Amino acid sequence: MKILGIETSCDETGICIIETKDNSTDPKIKILGNQLYSQIAIHAQYGGVYPMMAKREHALNLVPQLEKCLEEAGMLKLKVESKKLKELEEKVREILAREPEMCDEVIKLAEKIERPDIDMIAVTNGPGLEPALWVGVCFAKAISEDWNIPIIPVNHMEGHVVVAMLQPSEKLKVESEKLEYKIKNVNYPVIALLISGGHTQLVLVNEENKKLKYEIVGNTKDDAIGEAFDKVARILGLPYPGGPQISKLAEKERVEFPDKKTSYPLPRPMIHSGDLNFSFSGIKTAVLYTSQKIENLTDSIKQEIAREFEDAVVEVIIKKTEKAIEQFGVKTIIIGGGVSANKKIRNDFAKLAQDLNIEFMVPEFSASTDNAFMIAVAGFLNILSGKQPETDFKANGNLSL
Ligand code: KG4
Ligand code: ZN
Repeated sequence: MKILGIETSCDETGICIIETKDNSTDPKIKILGNQLYSQIAIHAQYGGVYPMMAKREHALNLVPQLEKCLEEAGMLKLKVESKKLKELEEKVREILAREPEMCDEVIKLAEKIERPDIDMIAVTNGPGLEPALWVGVCFAKAISEDWNIPIIPVNHMEGHVVVAMLQPSEKLKVESEKLEYKIKNVNYPVIALLISGGHTQLVLVNEENKKLKYEIVGNTKDDAIGEAFDKVARILGLPYPGGPQISKLAEKERVEFPDKKTSYPLPRPMIHSGDLNFSFSGIKTAVLYTSQKIENLTDSIKQEIAREFEDAVVEVIIKKTEKAIEQFGVKTIIIGGGVSANKKIRNDFAKLAQDLNIEFMVPEFSASTDNAFMIAVAGFLNILSGKQPETDFKANGNLSL
């Protein structure tokens, strides 16, 4: 079966087409096309993501990205004669009433190209920035109408979890060959630490009759961890998104001064709170006060603070995950979400799993931050577990697992 994944929850416009083989006990997933348009350069000027700007960019880019993705997948076939589709046009105009420009583009595309051989659409319907989510959802509904393809709505956070469960096939011999993955054998219960710009959650994952069951057992009381990375970066005068910048500086400091005791100690919020919850706003404020006291915030001081900040947050997330592992008899750790691209986090969690003799799963670097591949994969697993397509669903910025 071929699945088209659509992701627009934040500032990445993602379109992906996968081909799945599910007629055995060993399902396989092949990427036929994978396009990602990042709005980072646009948002960087303002130091953060503005929902209405993100929405506008998605609306501008969804049709071109879909065309590119179809082309990459070898599925873009022009009609011999472009035909007006009057009746269809009316329905599409109704679905995309709030996106007149994108609507024209969608109609033009449907008139220009043959229906692609796609069996299912998987679209993120939450959580995320609601205006951004709505564009993706309405776009999915419009092309579903054009080509009569059913839709499965997907929880963005489930995408971050399941993409970690994939195993790429052995090294490809021919470069032009498409990437193929199999789904790993997962030992449950799993604890998934989801760390992104909008979330910091510990999620207990179990499997019942091929369905994944999620229970949120820890959550942030204020800022998400990625948000803290981004805000601290802004305080230090580093560009958006700050996560990768902080991580680069911290790594440099560790290489240059491996044993140095920091002159700028930061708190480890809630590390001994006895529960599995987090708080990151205090640590951000501590960085703000520390930096305000420094007359000349030199590059070397920024580097030292970045390292202390990263050490502090990693210590907290490791401690809380360790507690959850003990509490629930966990057999596998998964980390997912944009912040799981962080090298120290990847290394420290790999070591934790090794020390505790349990399994550790993390997405490939390229699939850690937002993308449509993970949405297509989550859609596939939902289909395998018997979930039915939906027509009447909404975008929901606060959707929970
Ligand atoms: O999952 P994601 O792409 O989008 C959301 O759903 O939020 O996560 C984006 C977040 C941003 O806050 C970004 O700064 C952070 O992930 N991030 C990192 C790294 N790469 C991205 N944080 C720390 N270290 C990194 N290497
Ligand atoms: Zn995300």
